[in-house]
Amino acid sequence: MLKILTLVGSLARESINRKTLGFLGESGRGRFDFDTPPLGELPFFSPDIENDPPAAVVDLRKRMEAADALLAVTPEYNRSYPAVLKNALDWLSRPKLWGAGKPAAVLGASLGPIGAFGAQQLTRQLLATLDFKVMSRPAIHFNYAQYVDDQGQLAESSRKIFDEFADAFAVWAGDQKTMK
Ligand code: FNR
Repeated sequence: MLKILTLVGSLARESINRKTLGFLGESGRGRFDFDTPPLGELPFFSPDIENDPPAAVVDLRKRMEAADALLAVTPEYNRSYPAVLKNALDWLSRPKLWGAGKPAAVLGASLGPIGAFGAQQLTRQLLATLDFKVMSRPAIHFNYAQYVDDQGQLAESSRKIFDEFADAFAVWAGDQKTMK
């Protein structure tokens, strides 16, 4: 079982990105153990407290240390990732890189055909800067409005892309784990 720290960049109660993570969880059942910290509890990053941060930050760093891999789940805000996600990654980047060398992947959903493409691309770049080993393919640019019905059910035609992503990420994260 791979322990995956999942950073969900939405604070919305009915976040479509959180629900999209659920679809991946179904595809990865028995292989992924998702750990999803509440990013809304983190204060804004400040260098003044990076060495003696509040409990929520200490907790986040411990959870990153305990994880085999990272999965960033990002909504698209103005063609980029939300501040909530960036803030969490900033806390994991100073005064050292907490996730350096660990495998990572990015998932994202929006309510239109772009499927958080812009946010995902920028998140991959950001994760590479922080020295994560980022999986670039396959990617899911998920059009939630088109492929999830009013009852929250995933269209059967979309199950395959989550299965493929889960298979690839299990190999990506598992291989890196073996190499450690
Ligand atoms: C959005 N949304 C959005 N969608 C998109 O495809 N491209 C974009 O650039 C933006 N920009 C944007 C900015 C802000 C401030 C908000 C609040 C929303 C719409 C967004 O995809 C939609 O609200 C999703 O439901 C957000 O994901 P969660 O929070 O439901 O997971």
